[in-house]
This record gives sequence, structure tokens and C-alpha cells, in this order.
Amino acid sequence: MTAAAVHVVDHPLVQHKLTLLRQKDRSTNSFRRLLHEISMLMAYEVTRDMPTHPIEIETPLARMTSPVIDGKKTVFVSVMRAGAGLLDGMLDVVPGARVGHVGLYRDPKTLVAVEYYFKMPHDMQERDAIVLDPMLATGNSAVAAVERLKETGPRSIRYVCLLAAPEGLANFHAHHPDVPVFTAAVDERLDAHGYIVPGLGDAGDRLFGTK
Ligand code: URA
Repeated sequence: MTAAAVHVVDHPLVQHKLTLLRQKDRSTNSFRRLLHEISMLMAYEVTRDMPTHPIEIETPLARMTSPVIDGKKTVFVSVMRAGAGLLDGMLDVVPGARVGHVGLYRDPKTLVAVEYYFKMPHDMQERDAIVLDPMLATGNSAVAAVERLKETGPRSIRYVCLLAAPEGLANFHAHHPDVPVFTAAVDERLDAHGYIVPGLGDAGDRLFGTK
């Protein structure tokens, strides 16, 4: 199988907002708003080749056939808890989408992902899944989330993050070469605690103001 693609969303608006969001003194409110805005812009990229079907409509001047997407076929899979930071912006752009949740925590000693929650819509075989988690760090939780998601048999899977570490991307692709990753940046490395450097710190804490 060919290696999955990494799409770096390098649009100047995304990069500008990412720079602001990385700043350590940024308020919780501002961090949340910027992440929301970035996720709307990233939704544009991740849905670029979404299938459309033609419908008959009437403009004020004439009848015509015009394409629409089937939002209900899309399921956003939010990896708790920081995935919530990407979810609302995506839903703003694809309001008909369904939402699934995966709850994983990183064992602080082993950095291995442990599942505590999993809930998906019905008929996953008919849906295109877009997994949301801002930080692809070691990749262990991303690998586990996608492994579990694959058990439900979705039609396709894409993975969206805000920042990725090279180590995490390598780990993820070693397990899931069929899943393309969309990210706003690939950073330098991981530190000894599994944090992305230069990164932005703990995305969940910064999003919810818990630290
Ligand atoms: N999770 C985060 O929130 N930040 C990191 O840098 C790595 C994992």
C-alpha cells in the first residue's frame, strides 16, 4: 500500500492564526476563538474532494441542475477532549454532519493510549469519517483512535490535526498508511514528556483554561 499523504494547510490565514494561537500569553478565550477559525479554514481543505450529487433547482431566472454535498454522509470523530476545539468550526461549514466521540487518555508513564469512551452514529459503512484531534504528538492515541474507528467500517477516513510531530506522523503512517493527515504545521520534534516542540503546550488545557 502506498504511504498516506500529509497535507500541510499552508494558507496564509491559517498560518497567521496559528502563530497567534501558539503564543504563551494568549487568553483562553482568544485561543478557543482562533482554533475555531482555523478549523473552519481547514474544513475547506479536508472536504475539497467530497462527493457531490446534482439536484434540480430554480433560480429567479431559470431551472438548472446544480451540485450539493451530502453532509449527512460525513461523520466528524472528535477525540476527547481537545478534539472539541476543532469540532464546532467543522460543523459550521458542514452543518449536516454527524458526530462521533472517542475518549482516550495517555498513560503518563508509558504514553500509551487507553480508551474510556466510544460512540459513533449508525451505518458507518455509508459514511466518510474525519477524525479531529489538534495534537499529533507520539501518534499513539491517533493510532488507537483510528484502529477502533476502522472496526466500524467507515467508507473512508481522514485525520485532521493542528500540529504534528515528525515522530507522530511516522508512527501513524506505519499503522495507517491508508489515512491521509491534514495539519497546519509539522513541528521540529517531541520532548521527553511527549510534548510537541515548539508546539503550543497542552491543547486541552489551553482550550478549556484548566491550567
Ligand atoms: N498533547 C498536547 O496537548 N500537546 C502536545 O504538545 C502533545 C500532546
